[in-house]
Amino acid sequence: MILLTGGLGFIGSHVAAELAQQQQQQQDEGIVILDNLSNSNIGVLASLRSMFPKVTFFFHEGDIRDRALLDLIFRIHGPIHTVIHFAGLKSVKESFAKKEEYDAVNVGGTEILLDAMEAAGCRNFIFSSSATVYGTAPSPLTEASEVGVGISNPYGETKWAVECLLKTRAPTIRSAILRYFNPIGAHASGLLGEAPNGVPNNLFPILLKAMKEHRHIEVFGDDWPTRDGTCARDYVDIQDLAVAHVAAIRHFDNLVHGDTGIFTMNIATGISTTVLELLAAFEVATGIRVPYTIAARRPGDLAEVFAVPDPIRMDLLKWRPLRSIEESCRNGWNFAMRNE
Ligand code: NAD
Ligand code: WQD
Repeated sequence: MILLTGGLGFIGSHVAAELAQQQQQQQDEGIVILDNLSNSNIGVLASLRSMFPKVTFFFHEGDIRDRALLDLIFRIHGPIHTVIHFAGLKSVKESFAKKEEYDAVNVGGTEILLDAMEAAGCRNFIFSSSATVYGTAPSPLTEASEVGVGISNPYGETKWAVECLLKTRAPTIRSAILRYFNPIGAHASGLLGEAPNGVPNNLFPILLKAMKEHRHIEVFGDDWPTRDGTCARDYVDIQDLAVAHVAAIRHFDNLVHGDTGIFTMNIATGISTTVLELLAAFEVATGIRVPYTIAARRPGDLAEVFAVPDPIRMDLLKWRPLRSIEESCRNGWNFAMRNE
């Protein structure tokens, strides 16, 4: 059995769907989800159940910091062999005002979860880390780039703190640390996508919301040292990202071996796309014109962040990003239109 914390959120729900897709063929035992619904809604569970009627989704509404609940989950659904840990707070902006809460949930919560895993004898952990741990290291980034230096926000510090924590728990708990770059898109069915409870913080959901509401979007600066003066990022399709998790489970023993008990990998495409290029791709994919204005630079932004994917790690994982930005845009817009 597999436990997904934060499994009704944007990334967790797509990973749940990918796992279910696989389990449907194998008549497997089911998927356990723990989520406190702070940034998701119970309708996502209904969507998963309607998409995969043959798969059992066990759902617990609760907080990862609730040790008694965690113990109960490990007991009633055991043996749980792997935990994929998505639950956490992820707004860079909010993390400045709520630093203590970000520490308590993202770092403290992970510590409680690891304690509960250890007590239950569950040893495999997949962690949602972020490109933000590279701080100001220059792109193109590789797993050998400097980490933990120049992280510009408390949210990023929590991701780095958890990566360090995982090293202290290995090899008792073996971790695959996946550093996501910029996930975008939605499930091809149009039934899953990014649906935060408050206002969206990232470019792609901001774009979808603005287009639905017939508003323009603000581009943060056109005087950066890039091809067209707007910031460039490595946008990775959410379904490709989800497949990477299923691949990580399948090849866990190959990935996380030896004394360290830690495997670290960037989940990225190697393609750098500027804000204006992303807007142009959206226009091509959907036929919708994107009105925009140029606004001031956003404090803390970096001109360009992208990775060079490592062929050795990709071979170990047997994973490659396959989907184009246009496909992500089409799926994202399809989801936005179906969810008024
Ligand atoms: P999300 O907010 O959509 O999903 C997180 C889920 O966790 C939500 O369903 C929320 O209700 C739940 N949750 C939050 N706090 C909880 C708690 N204390 N106990 C139980 N459940 C809790 O975010 P996402 O985009 O799906 O991101 C998932 C993970 O990936 C996060 O850890 C995030 O930091 C990391 N990540 C995200 C991105 C990105 O751009 N989306 C990039 C890099 C890393
Ligand atoms: C992308 C680009 C903006 C909004 C953040 C976190 C990172 C990871 C992913 C979790 C930037 C520009 C944005 C807008 C714009 N998350 N932009 N107008 O900053 O690369 O990364 O999310 O781990 O840790 O830092 O992503 O989507 O916020 O911005 O012009 O209204 O879009 O300046 O260049 P970012 P983003």
